[in-house]
This record gives sequence, structure tokens and C-alpha cells, in this order.
Amino acid sequence: DEIITADGYHVQNHIDIKTEDGYLLTLHRIPSGKNNSDIKRRPSVLLMHGLLGGSADWVSMGPEKSLAYLLADRGFDVWMGNARGTTWSRKHNVLDPDVDKQDYWNFSWHEIGYYDLPRLIDYILENTKSEQLFYVGHSQGTTSFYVMASERPEYNKKIKLAVSLAPVAYVENVKYRLYRLLSNFIQTAEWLMKRFNIYELFRYSEFYRFLALDACKDGNETEDTCKNLLSGGTGKDVEQINGTIIPVIASNSPSGASTKQFLHFLQGIKSGEFKQYDHGEFENLLKYKQKTPPSYNLTQITAPVALYYAKNDLKSDIIDVQRLTEELPNVVVKHLIEYEHFNHMDYLFAIDVVKFLYNDILNCMNMFT
Ligand SMILES: *[C@@H]1O[C@H](CO)[C@@H](O)[C@H](O)[C@H]1NC(C)=O
Ligand SMILES: *[C@@H]1O[C@H](CO)[C@@H](O)[C@H](O)[C@H]1NC(C)=O
Ligand SMILES: *[C@@H]1O[C@H](CO)[C@@H](O)[C@H](O)[C@H]1NC(C)=O
Ligand SMILES: *[C@@H]1O[C@H](CO)[C@@H](O)[C@H](O)[C@H]1NC(C)=O
Ligand SMILES: *[C@@H]1O[C@H](CO)[C@@H](O)[C@H](O)[C@H]1NC(C)=O
Repeated sequence: DEIITADGYHVQNHIDIKTEDGYLLTLHRIPSGKNNSDIKRRPSVLLMHGLLGGSADWVSMGPEKSLAYLLADRGFDVWMGNARGTTWSRKHNVLDPDVDKQDYWNFSWHEIGYYDLPRLIDYILENTKSEQLFYVGHSQGTTSFYVMASERPEYNKKIKLAVSLAPVAYVENVKYRLYRLLSNFIQTAEWLMKRFNIYELFRYSEFYRFLALDACKDGNETEDTCKNLLSGGTGKDVEQINGTIIPVIASNSPSGASTKQFLHFLQGIKSGEFKQYDHGEFENLLKYKQKTPPSYNLTQITAPVALYYAKNDLKSDIIDVQRLTEELPNVVVKHLIEYEHFNHMDYLFAIDVVKFLYNDILNCMNMFT
């Protein structure tokens, strides 16, 4: 909210929104545009971040280049979600994330899709007395949407349009080498984490901000190294990184996740399927009444979906997106971003993101308004 206020917009914090299973979530809202504060009937949009992201992802680039501000200035009522376990939603009705670790962190993106998204959507619709909203997800924010829309199909009718940025359902062809490597050692990783009581990864710490503050700055001798490091997990596109923005990004990220979120993605790389969490045969039988976890049924997703994807995205491969497109029954836009080097984080932070992507999204959303 400090970033939003500093950029000259109104902001509301909606806190302690309780899910069915007791997690307490935060929504940040920009109810109006910069110059028009009239609260006339505006279509609502929920923006949902990716793995290790948070609501701040949508406002890091300043008023001219951040999707949240562009939407607010074009007449949308903008809500930004924070998934369970991330900085602004690291809470629970009874469980303490630092004490009851094993129980608090016992979730993957399945639960984010199954519990968090429906709760946030209902909260927004109640608050605005509307029937429908727009949904924009990035990366895991698309995964959790597909989980919700397939497992709780009654929510499809509440979605005017779902915009998927860097769609992630099938991950068989993910090119990020670290994930590919780790996907061969899932059981070992799982065992190690239990053995050493690691249930949470990459919790936000001032340390990252400290690192980012100088090392990536324009003109610093470490600038290139820093930018190459940042490109390592997303796809190389150093030209589109604005060094000045990195400390802003680092002031809120990484925002933390459960180890199960990572493990669930790794399972998908290994199996090639978009399935519920694999607990091992014995527990699967208890939980799912079958030895292997059930697949998400994508044909249940009847809400209109607009897909934006890119060639140089190491975490959302075009072959996997193609397969997803063929299985989703209501794809209204399938847009391969033209810029060759567009990578996984460029959806949020590229210097020319408005030209490459946001103009198209705004046009598309306008058509559905
Ligand atoms: C807001 O108004 C100022 C002054 O009239 C103008 O320069 C600016 O472009 C406007 N901003 C938006 C986002 O409409
Ligand atoms: C975690 O949740 C699953 C259900 O999703 C349950 O079967 C399992 O026992 C839980 N584990 C712990 C340690 O609470
Ligand atoms: C460059 O970054 C390093 C590492 O953060 C820092 O110690 C140093 O002061 C910076 N140099 C300049 C010129 O900003
Ligand atoms: C980088 O970000 C700063 C701060 O928002 C901005 O002033 C500058 O114009 C940006 N640089 C480029 C190349 O867009
Ligand atoms: C998936 O959903 C469709 C549409 O509701 C249904 O016809 C089909 O039987 C379902 N498939 C499975 C495997 O449950």
C-alpha cells in the first residue's frame, strides 16, 4: 500500500479474509484511477501473482507501466490477491506459520486454487454487489485458476474473462534446467525437507533487498552479472531489465511459498500430466481412492480464457501451452507475444511491457466489458 500511495493512487487494504480451512488472506484494492476518483460502476478485476510473487508485482513499474495502474486509469476496479503463505497472507486463524510448521505449510497450489481463489472472488463480488469479475493470473496465478475452474466449476459463471499470462498447467517441456534436474530427485528432496523441517522456502527477507539495492544498479560493475543471474530462471532477456526497478521489486519479493508448491510443479514435469498432489501410493489410496492422483479435468473450464505466451519463457513452454489450448473448451484469445526474447518475468517487469503485451490485454478486456 505504501508503493501505491506514493504513486498517487487510492488504496484499500482488505485483511483477514478467512478461507474455509482457516487461512487469513489480504487483498489490496485500487478502487479508482489517478485523476477520476468517482466510484461509478467499474468492472472489477482480480490480479493473481505467480510463485514467490505477491500483490506488489502489479505495481512495481510505476504508473505508466504497471498493469494495476493502467487498469485503474481505464475504469477498472482493481483487486490484487495474495496467496496463503506469502508475505501479506502469512497467517491463519489457529495455526502459527512459525510454530505449527508441518500443519500450516501443508498445502500446494491446489489449495490456493481450491480455497483461496473462490474465497477472494466471493469477497470481491459481495463487496461490489456484482455477479462477475475479470481475472488476470501470472504463471502460478494461472495454474491456481485452472484448479479452481475445474474442481469448482460453479465458479466459471462468476468469471467474465480469465486472462492467462505465461500459462502453466502442463509443465512437461519446461526448459528451466534446475527444475528439470530436481524433477529426478523429488523423493530425495521431499525426504530432506522433512528431515530438516523445511516446510517454507524463500520467505521475504531484507537481505534480498540489501543485495539488490546496489549490485544491479545501472553503471555498477556487478550490473551485468546481476542481470544475467536474474535471467537464469526466466529466459535470457537482459535488454528488458530496468536496473532502477530491481530494488523496488526486491522490496517485496521473493514472498515465500510452501515446499509442496515446488514439489507439485516438479511432479508435473516428471509425470507430464496436470494432476493433484502425489502423496505416494498409500496416502493416495486414502485420499483419492486410487493409487495415482486424479488429473484436473480441463473440459470443466467453461469460462472464456485469453492466453498470452512467449517463445523464450523457460517456465511456460509453447508446446505445453499448445496442449493446454487444445483441451480448454473456451479459448477466446491465443496470443504468442511477438518479441523473440520475451521471458517469464517480462510479463510484469519488461521495459517495453506496455507495447509488447499490455495494450493487447487492455483492448481484449475492453471487448468483454
Ligand atoms: C492525470 O491528469 C494530469 C493533469 O491533467 C495528466 O497530465 C495525466 O496524464 C493524467 N493521468 C492519467 C493517468 O490520466
Ligand atoms: C496434509 O494434508 C493432507 C490432505 O491434503 C493429509 O492427508 C495429511 O495428513 C496432512 N499432513 C500433515 C502433516 O498434516
Ligand atoms: C556496486 O554493488 C556492490 C554490491 O552490492 C556495492 O558494494 C557497491 O557499492 C556498488 N557500487 C556502486 C558504484 O554503486
Ligand atoms: C527505469 O525505471 C526508472 C524509474 O521508474 C525510470 O525513470 C526509467 O525511465 C526506466 N528506464 C527505462 C529504460 O525505461
Ligand atoms: C470431465 O468433464 C467433462 C465435462 O463435464 C465430462 O463429460 C467428463 O466425463 C469428465 N471427465 C472425467 C475423467 O471425469
